[in-house]
Amino acid sequence: MSRITSLEQYHAEYRKSIEQPEIFWAEQAAEFTWRKKWNKVLEWNFTGPDVKWFIGGKLNITENCLDRHLAERGDQTAMIWEPNSPDEAGRKISYKELHAEVCRFANVLKKHGAKKGDRVCIYMPMIPELAVAVLACARIGAIHSVVFGGFSFSSLADRVHDADCRIVVTADGGFRGAKDIPLKSVVDEALKTCPSVTKVLVAKRTGVAVNMVEGRDLWWSEEIKTVSADCPAEEMDSEDMLFILYTSGSTGKPKGVVHTCGGYMVYVKYTFENVFQYNPGDVFWCTADVGWVTGHSYLVYGPLLAGATTVMFEGIPTFPDAGRFWHVIDKHKVNIFYTAPTAIRSLEAMGLDFVKPYKLDSLRVLGTVGEPINAEAWEWYHKNIGKEKCPIVDTWWQTETGGILISPLAGITKTKPGFATWPLPGVQPVLVDEAGNELQGNGVEGRLCIRFPWPGIIRTTYGNHERCRATYFETYKNLYFTGDGCRRDEDGYYRITGRVDDVIKVSGHLLGTAEIENAINEHPDIVESAVVAFPHDIKGWGIYAFCIDENGRKDVESLKKEIIDTVNKYMGPIAKPDKIQIVTGLPKTRSGKIMRRILRKIAEGETSSLGDISTLLDPAVVEEIVKGAVM
Ligand code: WTA
Repeated sequence: MSRITSLEQYHAEYRKSIEQPEIFWAEQAAEFTWRKKWNKVLEWNFTGPDVKWFIGGKLNITENCLDRHLAERGDQTAMIWEPNSPDEAGRKISYKELHAEVCRFANVLKKHGAKKGDRVCIYMPMIPELAVAVLACARIGAIHSVVFGGFSFSSLADRVHDADCRIVVTADGGFRGAKDIPLKSVVDEALKTCPSVTKVLVAKRTGVAVNMVEGRDLWWSEEIKTVSADCPAEEMDSEDMLFILYTSGSTGKPKGVVHTCGGYMVYVKYTFENVFQYNPGDVFWCTADVGWVTGHSYLVYGPLLAGATTVMFEGIPTFPDAGRFWHVIDKHKVNIFYTAPTAIRSLEAMGLDFVKPYKLDSLRVLGTVGEPINAEAWEWYHKNIGKEKCPIVDTWWQTETGGILISPLAGITKTKPGFATWPLPGVQPVLVDEAGNELQGNGVEGRLCIRFPWPGIIRTTYGNHERCRATYFETYKNLYFTGDGCRRDEDGYYRITGRVDDVIKVSGHLLGTAEIENAINEHPDIVESAVVAFPHDIKGWGIYAFCIDENGRKDVESLKKEIIDTVNKYMGPIAKPDKIQIVTGLPKTRSGKIMRRILRKIAEGETSSLGDISTLLDPAVVEEIVKGAVM
């Protein structure tokens, strides 16, 4: 695999990847362990869409993450686990140990009927068993669908249902800061509506009392005693599914983004090594939860494919205090640190006293992901954490892209605060206007699309290929549409400006407004609601909900509280509205469509420029909403 080490080389590799993509990617793929080499590198069209990489190739990704390293670095630490409480002992797991744990748990899954192609739902806290469960699925060719532990029972049930999972892997509970999360009881609630699930494997973490259903629920710790630590890896085709990961869409139902074995493997390792300029022996810490794609690609798969030491942190940045990240960096001598702008902003707001006690001198590279980073937060991170010597890689990508698409290469690409800079080799960005006309040259702003497939691109949305086509490949002919707005400045640098559709990024988490509205509407008094985003200093975007109360309740404050509880219950605390306004109507067009543009302006406090409201069914409603707006 070619590690790019200079700007000239970047340009040369980029050119090659565009002119001879198949040769370029075949070179990157050559260094992996394949059971059988591919016979064709790429076949594709974006109309189906139908994209296949490394056709005919046979492999197992866990052989590349684990077995391959045993001879050379079997005793090297593969994973450092840092628990929620700094007073609890963590774990260092070597490649040899991780290999054995994965094989054991793979045998447990097999014993309970999991086969190649079966879907396994994983709903766990950030404990090593989570990574083990992910890799164990991959070992036997079962398709993992990890659901973020912050989602509630109804979001979990939707996802279990959509993927028709038969097995759920969970834990009794999880620790997050000062809170205990009762994961198993959430699973119990979810499974009331998921009769297809026959086995639930439960890791013990918090020791909270749980209800174990006879014949269905089994303890992880008991089960692994009954199996061997030898589990030959299942032979997978390059295009067999590796995992499903649900992401929010403009409609209420989340989409199961599907990634396959070969292309994803090649792409995440290539991007991991090049973007972060990983050197053998580096300790790499990605703070994302494995419930999101960043955790899949750059906590589990990318670092392990590269033979790195990856850090998994169970807790939150502010527990026991806002110095925790910096404490962990010093403790484990982290070299590369990758986090979200929202975390940086919240720690910046806590003041430098939490940073000062720490040396942070092991750091070499810093990264950000998940949302645009504002220049102020970038400068703070650069100065106070990176001590002005660590390059920052602002990495732009999506669940659907599998890995990073636009990003500086650490220490190689000249950075500019707020810019993801240039596309990685193999990535061909295009900016178009709303009508789909390509915007040529520099100094332009439009919608970001990609013209050519890269190995980590989404293959389908689980169980509904048409949805994949309609969401990503239909808006602009022969282009993959990202849903993001983007500017290309005079230097050809890309700056992502944010979503142009009805999904919003709250603290770096992608949430569908329709999904939140559905949760709000579960409240018995709310007949209809509309959710929009408004700029928020720490979270990037906050959630503003306009809700129609059918019964005209007088106790508005308690109603608002109930609405928040309802969202917590049905979707999870990450979707909790920051502002709620009870209204008697919503601005709608004569055809009944909610005019979100107007609501967005009101939420942003820009009521002087609401634009033309004459086409509304009832313009008076706007006046009422403006008067009652929550600022
Ligand atoms: C946003 C997360 C600006 C963007 C990996 C994208 C970013 C969405 C950046 C995908 C960045 C991600 N700068 N915006 N560096 N990285 N985004 O699927 O809107 O959770 O479409 O994947 O996050 O979110 P997702």
